[in-house]
Amino acid sequence: MLDLLALALAGIHFGVPLLYYSYLKRRYLNKPWNIKIDENYKPKVTVIVPTYKEAKFIWSKLDNLYAQEYPKSLIEVIVVDSKSDDGTVDLVKEWASKHLGFNIRLIEEDRRYGKFHALQTALREVDPSSKVIVFTDADAFWERNALNNALSYFADPSVGSVTGSIVYITPINGGKYLENTYREFYNMVRVAESRKYATPVHNGPFLAIRTSLLRRFGLPDFPGSDDSAFGSFIAFAGYRAIQVSDVIVKEPVRGNQLYRKVRRAQHLLLSFLKTKQYVKKLGVYMRTKPFERIWKVEWWLHVINPWLLIVCAALLVMGAFYGSFTALMLLGVGLMLLTLKAYRTWVLQQLYLVIAAIRNLWTREIAWAK
Ligand code: GDD
Ligand code: MN
Repeated sequence: MLDLLALALAGIHFGVPLLYYSYLKRRYLNKPWNIKIDENYKPKVTVIVPTYKEAKFIWSKLDNLYAQEYPKSLIEVIVVDSKSDDGTVDLVKEWASKHLGFNIRLIEEDRRYGKFHALQTALREVDPSSKVIVFTDADAFWERNALNNALSYFADPSVGSVTGSIVYITPINGGKYLENTYREFYNMVRVAESRKYATPVHNGPFLAIRTSLLRRFGLPDFPGSDDSAFGSFIAFAGYRAIQVSDVIVKEPVRGNQLYRKVRRAQHLLLSFLKTKQYVKKLGVYMRTKPFERIWKVEWWLHVINPWLLIVCAALLVMGAFYGSFTALMLLGVGLMLLTLKAYRTWVLQQLYLVIAAIRNLWTREIAWAK
């Protein structure tokens, strides 16, 4: 009896995302955008780079921005640092002195209040004529055409935000790329949702938002809020919030992966729990049918679905303990499948979400360790 229940839970846990995946792939991955894309749309843009102890990356990050194909006279860069003590600020100053004529500014906060706070600080300094604001991370490296391509979508006034597709670049184990399998799956889902209407999750390494919307609505500001909430925020306000596959960002894998993943999952979860209410409270909520549907599935996948796997595993362990052969077999199959990379990555992601839900009970991860 319990075995059957466990089997049913597993069926739902794996069935819902698989069905969703194949539905998106079939129906939307090649659907036209229904957006007026104009390669010649070249407004003034502001790039905001928050930094905390980024001495290792900041120089190449600025070089990377400098190498963008976008006209330099139309780019404004704002670096906002939160009292790094590793020389980041000096490097920014030195880089700027070697690139006179490139519009780069440095804002120094008096202490570390966290990334989100730093973004808010920078927003107050944005050139009033700037039409699009791009948030990025110090360790995010854009392809040279990233700005060009992203901006072409903003030619259509229905587009509120554009986020890039990430690939990881640190080869481990003799050339295998860590978790790119999962990334491909994830990018496919996000782009397909975007073609349908909008995707709720945006990526901090490249996240462009129309300035006029930020002026009207501000950023979604609740404890623990992060870039992952920006996409849903824009979509709930009635605009297309899209991830595109022709804006590619490379990000080196660094730091403690478990901690990093859990933190990211904490932010994601908070965004699923808070953004909709937040937009409604602000009084700018606009209901759109396609996005409500996408939101429902993604909400389920992040908030509820991971727990089914946990309950299922617990039931099987219990069953096996009480001598059920079926439970033991099912458990064995579940464990054996862990040798498959895609399955393993999926299961890990579920664990991160569960740990994140528990961790959210006592910490909001506003400023994280480096
Ligand atoms: N000014 C400032 N102040 N910047 C900060 C602070 C801070 O307190 N904390 C972090 N940053 C900067 C980092 O220097 C970096 O440029 C960027 O924020 C992202 O931080 P990473 O340390 O690179 O974290 P990550 O790679 O795990 O970040 C991913 O998840 C975050 C949410 O958990 C990215 O998607 C981020 O965009 C996202 O915010
Ligand atoms: Mn990073």
